[in-house]
Amino acid sequence: MRKKFEFEYHLLANASELSVEDQEILVAAKEATKTAYAPYSNFYVGAAARLSNGKIVIGSNQESTSFPVGICAERTLLNSVGSQFPDLSIITMAISYQPLGKDSIEPISPCGMCRQSLLDYENRYGAPIKIILSGMSGEVMVLNSASNLLPFGFDGSILK
Ligand code: THU
Repeated sequence: MRKKFEFEYHLLANASELSVEDQEILVAAKEATKTAYAPYSNFYVGAAARLSNGKIVIGSNQESTSFPVGICAERTLLNSVGSQFPDLSIITMAISYQPLGKDSIEPISPCGMCRQSLLDYENRYGAPIKIILSGMSGEVMVLNSASNLLPFGFDGSILK
């Protein structure tokens, strides 16, 4: 039997095509790059989430002298939301980046570990997270669910 896995996403020419609410989240993610601690990669990543009560929370990558200890912006944010606002789900999350001395004109694509964390968070609250991926300028990708980023992801149901 042959099967196909596909999903739809939106590719926008630029951020002005987003709704006003989503533009606000993306601006917060871009601003959050300034809080990144990335002296080893010089790759500053910012993430922002809108929670179910409308509140915006930000996160950024935080690197370590012991490189693998560093954490991505997305998981900084998810862990922060999970510990500060455990009763609130995430409606939308935006991610952007600024590499030192380089352009940021293409959407960023989250790493595999962050995709798992995003999937975990969606399953924990039983609600899809809209994902907005962008550089500081240029085209913007919008996905309706983080689960699209991790086909056949491990959702833990087999543990029960
Ligand atoms: N990084 C993120 O924070 N998010 C991503 O989606 C990709 C990569 C960070 C990890 C590391 O601090 C730096 O960017 C370079 O990989």
